Amino acid sequence: MAVKITVNGQILEVDENMSILEACTANGIRIPTLCYLKELDPHASCRLCVVQVEGMRTFQPSCATKVREGMVIHTDTEEIRRNRKLTLEMIMAHHPVDCHHCLRLGSSKEEDLDPKFCEMCFWCDCVRDGICELQKLNREYHVDRLPFNIDGYRYDLDTSLGSVCRDPNKCIKCRRCVDVCNEVQSVHNLAMFARGQDTRVTAAMDKPMAESPCVRCGRCVDVCPTGAVFMKENIDKMLFYAHSYSNKTIGMVSTSLVKDLEKLNNMEEGTLDIHRVIGGMKKIGVDQVVSEDMAIGASKKAAEEIIEKANGKVILSNSFAVKNFVETKYPELADQITYYPSVQQSFAKIAEDLGKQLGYDTAKLKTVVFTANNENGAEAKECHSVDFSMNAREVYRTFRRTGVEVKVEPPVDALKMCVDPKCADSAVIGPVAFNYEKEPEVIRMQGKVAAVAHNLGQCAKLLDEVKAGTSAYDIIRLCA
Ligand code: SF4
Ligand code: SF4
Ligand code: FES
Repeated sequence: MAVKITVNGQILEVDENMSILEACTANGIRIPTLCYLKELDPHASCRLCVVQVEGMRTFQPSCATKVREGMVIHTDTEEIRRNRKLTLEMIMAHHPVDCHHCLRLGSSKEEDLDPKFCEMCFWCDCVRDGICELQKLNREYHVDRLPFNIDGYRYDLDTSLGSVCRDPNKCIKCRRCVDVCNEVQSVHNLAMFARGQDTRVTAAMDKPMAESPCVRCGRCVDVCPTGAVFMKENIDKMLFYAHSYSNKTIGMVSTSLVKDLEKLNNMEEGTLDIHRVIGGMKKIGVDQVVSEDMAIGASKKAAEEIIEKANGKVILSNSFAVKNFVETKYPELADQITYYPSVQQSFAKIAEDLGKQLGYDTAKLKTVVFTANNENGAEAKECHSVDFSMNAREVYRTFRRTGVEVKVEPPVDALKMCVDPKCADSAVIGPVAFNYEKEPEVIRMQGKVAAVAHNLGQCAKLLDEVKAGTSAYDIIRLCA
């Protein structure tokens, strides 16, 4: 049912099940948020989204307050802005300021807000510098001087995995990572620990990540609004090889990168041309850039062969994080799962063959995967299938540092590679996008029923059924 509310003097008709935040967002009224993730239940922990509801004594978190008939709401008064600024100042009182060392970055002056500046200077340590949700709000609310003593470095960095890293000092306790790790991925590695000022996110039993049950899916990295969880960066090393005359580099670019790069560059969806991204990669010195089609084709072919040969039910995966998940949570099912080469492994083989064809010294060949999927970074680190894997944030920061402007770079085609035409195009074996759903996708094909898991929670559901002997699927594909 629809209800009528008034927001900043404007009358809106919205669904009665919406929160104030959802109703405002749907009507183009922006309210700042730090902890809210639209796919998960709100915890209302950051208090940035507060609004004033007439008749209520205190400000209300708009993410966790439902609309009601006749509500009169104000989202952007002087008083609300002051309250949000105070909230930000209190967050910053316990936050390292390695992006505020620089006078310019601590400034909210219009001319200092160009992120290009901060990526050109090498002073700031934070991996999210210039692309941090907290930093962006500090600028918007003019948090230039902090009225509190900064107590920013209380905890050690955890880089023990060499891929998924944690800096608890930068955590704003929004719980996004905890919810994704527990509720969506079913890994149950991250948790809130201790109380009050000492509250922090820890890996299981407060152990270093390398000793925890983390499966390196990297989904916590995707949702963290600050630099508190991040993938270890390889920008300097990658640039060294890309610039070196004695080494050759071959890269593979994934189309999944484009959406993230659009967001990071404040571009409208669908406006970034991947050929300009490839142009940028060539400009920083990557000798050859191939599209992911051939590697995906090779990986699909391997999956298709497994399904064809299967005599009865088959469970298959080409995911590094799924393998870790099964080993940690379902060791008794490990030998029932058939693993086939990941897209990254397929690319490594293609790059080697291509290097030989082009007459490169393959001993000095470096391979790099540009992808939105953080799992690839951990796979590269632990399996050494490729030399580097860079996510969209790293690509963005690399481009900033090297003066590449993706919006205007001359477009370049990826190296044309032949894709095996015999591989059937099927949703069961094709690329799978992560989602927040609880239920796996069910596909019916050629008299068979297949289930495809788009996250580890869905994998757990399917594996529980296999364990209990109640699985109704002929084919199960597990993705993380
Ligand atoms: S990488 Fe995945 S498993 Fe590890 S802590 Fe993050 S969400 Fe949990
Ligand atoms: S580590 Fe990041 S995502 Fe997790 S609670 Fe802290 S700020 Fe939020
Ligand atoms: S977004 Fe509502 S409290 Fe954080």
